[in-house]
Amino acid sequence: MTDLPPARILAIETSCDETAAAVIENGRLLLASTVASQMEIHARFGGVFPEVASRQHILAAVPVVEQTLAKAHLTLADLDAVAATRGPGLAGSLVVGLNLAKGLALGRGLPLIGVNHLEAHIYSAWVYPASEMPPPEPQFPLVALLVSGGHTEINLMDAHLRYRRLGATLDDAAGEAFDKVARLLGLPYPGGPPIQQAAEAGDPAAFKFPRAWLEGSYDFSFSGLKTAVLNETKKFEGRPLPVADLAASFQAAVVDVLFQKTMKAARQFGAREILVAGGVSANQTLRQAFQSQDEFPVNIPAFSLCTDNAAMVAAAGYYRFALGHRDDLSIDVLPTWPLS
Ligand code: KG4
Ligand code: ZN
Repeated sequence: MTDLPPARILAIETSCDETAAAVIENGRLLLASTVASQMEIHARFGGVFPEVASRQHILAAVPVVEQTLAKAHLTLADLDAVAATRGPGLAGSLVVGLNLAKGLALGRGLPLIGVNHLEAHIYSAWVYPASEMPPPEPQFPLVALLVSGGHTEINLMDAHLRYRRLGATLDDAAGEAFDKVARLLGLPYPGGPPIQQAAEAGDPAAFKFPRAWLEGSYDFSFSGLKTAVLNETKKFEGRPLPVADLAASFQAAVVDVLFQKTMKAARQFGAREILVAGGVSANQTLRQAFQSQDEFPVNIPAFSLCTDNAAMVAAAGYYRFALGHRDDLSIDVLPTWPLS
């Protein structure tokens, strides 16, 4: 996209339990990124505690922006626009980052860009750090599998910022299923990393867990799988759970459905490439499934960009900015904003 204007975007992300800021140049080159995680604070509640999250964002937001600019050796005077996540997410958390972005935009006379968090996850695949050679840019049309703690959907993108939702989860998101099953297995929150780790020592074929194919649609359902794991754990009452085998078999069932349905969508809609993003795209088994097929080139963000960060918000913010989108100070948070 050499015809898009050069621009340096500062982005702020506070949709859930990470206070993050980043500066990106021209939509792809990551100059600096900071993520202040509240994970340890929420872990003792077994999930994100919304009021605690907003208070932490209030404490962390300004220092995180200051640190990010310092790391990039930049000041506010070097920016072309300010972007912030406006939804979906926790309203009390979103409002902290969005209002800080509004203040910076107003104070410096900079354009303000509100970014959809799901769109931002997709744009994480465009980002590369200054220390690396630019990887090839994702090519349209592409089929994007978005798998996070709150969302699971397949979108067809035929151009920048154009999404056609082909399917989504009817119940739990993939990440949510990892988190709930981790709890059943006595593993900590967030559940994705400990399940992946436990699964390394397990047999993915030990338990025949159900796969909800929902033939004829690109929708997903993970609640039956979660119940199947629960039922299996009940059989071990009084005996130690075979955590590794349960984790590996559960993970295999999730990955199988995500992979097969995405491949099918890519074939049916004539995609040139596949893109996988969102917190669950950090999962090694899911990454390997896509990386070991050679039907479609696959774009998966660097490991550090899979879970929530502001680099992806800055990247999406850049394409919004470059394509003429502008928001004014009246924009508000949208806790449930669909992508399409
Ligand atoms: O995208 P994200 O950081 O936040 C949302 O926007 O929801 O995703 C968080 C989710 C959590 O459910 C977490 O368990 C999951 O991503 N996750 C993983 C892995 N790392 C994080 N799931 C499976 N395998 C992983 N390695
Ligand atoms: Zn996210």
